[in-house]
Amino acid sequence: MTGDLTPVSNDTQAFDLLGRLAREHQMDVHGGQVRRTSSRFCLGVEHGDYNGTELFGVGTDRFIWMAYKANGTDRMRLFSGNFPDEGVVEFTLGDVPNPQSPGIAERWARFPFGVNFVLRRAGYEIARGFDAVLYGNIPGGGMSRSASLTLNLILSLLDVNKIGVDEDMAIIDLAQAVENDYIGSPCGQLDQIMIYFAKEGMGTHYNPADRSIKYVSLGAGATDFRIVSLDTGTVRPGLEKSTYKLRRGQCEELVGLLKARGYDIGCLADVREETLFHKIQDEFSAEYPQLCRRLTYIYHAQNRFYEMLDAWKAGDIERVGAIFRADGIGLRDEYQISGPELETMCDLVRTVEGVLGERMLGGGDRGASGALVRADAVEGVRAAVESGYPRSRPDHAEGYATHVCKMVDGVTLFKNQLP
Ligand code: GLA
Repeated sequence: MTGDLTPVSNDTQAFDLLGRLAREHQMDVHGGQVRRTSSRFCLGVEHGDYNGTELFGVGTDRFIWMAYKANGTDRMRLFSGNFPDEGVVEFTLGDVPNPQSPGIAERWARFPFGVNFVLRRAGYEIARGFDAVLYGNIPGGGMSRSASLTLNLILSLLDVNKIGVDEDMAIIDLAQAVENDYIGSPCGQLDQIMIYFAKEGMGTHYNPADRSIKYVSLGAGATDFRIVSLDTGTVRPGLEKSTYKLRRGQCEELVGLLKARGYDIGCLADVREETLFHKIQDEFSAEYPQLCRRLTYIYHAQNRFYEMLDAWKAGDIERVGAIFRADGIGLRDEYQISGPELETMCDLVRTVEGVLGERMLGGGDRGASGALVRADAVEGVRAAVESGYPRSRPDHAEGYATHVCKMVDGVTLFKNQLP
C-alpha cells in the first residue's frame, strides 16, 4: 500500500515522513497542525449499526496523520503518501465532481471532494483552503480506514474555516453522508462513532435510542490482553460492491415483510423477546430461510451484547473473548458475511493457547480478522500466522500482516511538530 515508503509505526516517524513529503511536493504545512485519527475495533454488535442495536468498541493505534495549514486561497492541495502515483490533489472549493462520478471511483481524491461537497450542502461556509500531506498505516478493510480519513478531513476543513459544530452527532452524520451520498458506500455509523469518541483505555458504548455515548472502563484485575488485527492481505472493494450491501437489503426486506404482516417492528433489533423471535421463525423460516438466518444472528448477538458489557465492566476479558468468538461463528454461519481468507486467519489463531476469541472484522468478505489475545500469547499468534497463512493462502503471502494494537484516543491534534 505504501510503495517505497518506510513503514511508520509511531508519531515521530509519521512527523518525519510528513515533513519529507511536504518538502518533496512543495506543500506549505510548516508551523501548521497535525491531526491524527485512529482506527477502531468493534466488540459488538458487528453489523448491528444498520439494524438498530447498541454498539461498543474502542479506538486502536493504527492511524491516519494529516499535517495541514491554511494556504490563504480558496484552493485545496493535498498529497497522500499512500497514493503517491495520484500526485497532488488540487481543486477549488465548491468545484468538485458530482457525487459518484465514474472518474473518481478509484481515486482517493473522492474523500476530500466528498467532504467539501457535504459540508457545503449542509450550509457551512467553506471558503478557506489548505495545503496538506497525509499518511496512514491502517490496513484496508476491517479497521475503518475510510471513516478515519473522512473524519480527519472534515475536522480539519472546519478548523481552517473557523467553524465550530456544537453537536458531536452532527459530525457523525456528516461523515456518514460523505460515504453514503458522495462515495456511494452504504456504511452505517459504527466506524465514525467508534473513532470520533474513542478515549484511551476505555470502551465507547453507543445507544441509538437517544444517541448517547457512555464511556466504560475495563473492570479492575482483568487479564493483560491485546487486540490483534490479522490483515489477510486481500484487497476489498468498496462496501457498495460487496455482500454488505446484499445483507443490508435482506435485513430491510425482512423488516418490510414483518411490518406488512402487522408486526410492530422498525428494525431487526426490535426483535428482542424470545417468544417474538420464535413466532417469527415459525411463521417465516420455511418461505424465507435466508432472511431468518440473518435475524438469528442479530437476535443472539444482541443478547450476547449485554453479557459482553457486563463481562467488560467486571474485568472478565476471558468472557468478552468467548462472546467475541460466538459472534464470529454467527457472522460466519448465520449472517454469512465472512470470507475464506478471514476464516483461515480465525482457524489459525483459534487453537493457540491464550487466544480468547477471534472473528472477522467490519464489512466482510475480505480485509482483516481480529482476535483478543492474552498478552503472553501474542508471540504464539504471530508464529501461527507466519507459518500457517502463507501456506494456506499463497496468493496473499506478500500482503498479510499481524497488528498488535493498544486502545487509544480517536482524534488527537498536535501543534508545530513537523521537523
Ligand atoms: C463496516 C461499516 C459499518 C458497520 C460494519 C459492520 O465497517 O462501515 O457501518 O456496518 O461494517 O459492523
